[in-house]
Amino acid sequence: MAIQVLAGKLSRSFSRSKVSARVSHLYDSIHCAPYSTDRIIDVGQPTPSSHPQLLTEDEITPGITSAEYTSRRKRLLELLPDKSLAIIASAPMKMMTDVVPYTFRQDADYLYFTGCMQPGGIAVLSHEHGLCMFMPDSSPHDVAWQGQTAGVDAALDYFRAEKAYPMSKIHKILPEMMGSASRLFHNVKTAVPSYMELEPFQRAAISKKVKDLSYYTHQLRWIKSPAELKLMRQAASITCQALLQTMLLSRTHPEESKLSAKVEFECRMRGAQRMAFNPVVGGGANGSVIHYARNDQKIGGGDLVLMDVGCELHGYLSDLTRTWPPSGSFSTAQGELYSLILETNKESMKLCKPGASIQQIHNYSVQMLRKGFKELGILKDESSFSYHQLNPTAIGHYLGMDIHDSATVGIDRPLQPGVVITIEPGVYIAPSFDAPDRYRGIGIRIEDEVLITDTGYEVLTGSMPKEISHIKSLLNMDGSSGAEITLEERAAIS
Ligand code: GLY
Ligand code: MN
Repeated sequence: MAIQVLAGKLSRSFSRSKVSARVSHLYDSIHCAPYSTDRIIDVGQPTPSSHPQLLTEDEITPGITSAEYTSRRKRLLELLPDKSLAIIASAPMKMMTDVVPYTFRQDADYLYFTGCMQPGGIAVLSHEHGLCMFMPDSSPHDVAWQGQTAGVDAALDYFRAEKAYPMSKIHKILPEMMGSASRLFHNVKTAVPSYMELEPFQRAAISKKVKDLSYYTHQLRWIKSPAELKLMRQAASITCQALLQTMLLSRTHPEESKLSAKVEFECRMRGAQRMAFNPVVGGGANGSVIHYARNDQKIGGGDLVLMDVGCELHGYLSDLTRTWPPSGSFSTAQGELYSLILETNKESMKLCKPGASIQQIHNYSVQMLRKGFKELGILKDESSFSYHQLNPTAIGHYLGMDIHDSATVGIDRPLQPGVVITIEPGVYIAPSFDAPDRYRGIGIRIEDEVLITDTGYEVLTGSMPKEISHIKSLLNMDGSSGAEITLEERAAIS
């Protein structure tokens, strides 16, 4: 207890930047939780004081500084016409039952401009007022059930809003702000009655002065800053390491549910907050269902398994797909199809550079796949309409804080340095598809994350094996000599 008091005194009497590392060591060595003192203000999410292991003094969320948040807001206001008012609501909290919530994930725009990870708030941005945050009024009952959350003080002191009010005041304050604006922008996807029901908003809507803000926010979010790229590299690296461990486990535990559990465990043990989406773990013909989500089957002896996984690290996502035979060997038909998808993945990637577009890369990949399917006898001719049954997806999408990021930026937009995209060619041959028997029920996708650089591209998921020879070596390794081993030996070492 005496040492807790000492730690509290230290953190009070020195600037946080000088002392936080020393205090955190003190906490480590005496095994006392920072929350056991009354000196650290709880704003409902990690801060440099409460989580010095995650944030430096100038960061609002891990990896993103206060200056970067300020600059994001400034750039949004520069994009918007004069006298605009932008309204961004946080994501809604969905409840399973009365007081039991589903896992909360913040709306990407709200997080991008405020850094606040909590539900219930509305952020308003304008040239006149700067950032004004309406924060949820939390009652003692809420605090008892959910813990401390950010309120007006946190909005001003921690998130650096120019103004902040409790949500209960929104009907008094916001109409006045709306009244002096000539255009209103809001995030249509997270729109909530607390501002939409206000009379000035309804009037503006009738006179068509309300526009979707996402067109502007997605422009900004499309190009990643160095700090964002650092987080995206880390998220990609976590997913690669997690999937590699999962591939090894698949040799002895070829079950979709176990591989799903394993990859999530490995991601979270490496610091990810959650998965970016429900992992796709499709054995055999389940791999031909593009967003297969059941993950409840055993994987057949000679089958491939397709795993499409990603994690979220401090708001930034990764997205990676590999397909492999847990048995360690590809059948001839599997190998033929895999080689076609791999070549398409590699050739499509070579087109990634500033000025190219996802649309162009997609068109090229479709030509390659059509030609390959024809050569394998899966399509009768290259222009066959049946191609769309074999692959109805685009070659890729933008990636960032959302899995299909910056959705209002068209895929024909010329790529720029700092944009991250996925390259994910695939083939999905349903068992009922009219193709030679040996190809039916095979699903293969090979997906990488690609950062567009000044001169070309960088593969953020490049550490994850995808060559057939590398996959075979990995799956047939015994972990010490690298020698090929039998199934029984594999079972014994796992
Ligand atoms: N990996 C999920 C998707 O791209 O749709
Ligand atoms: Mn993807």
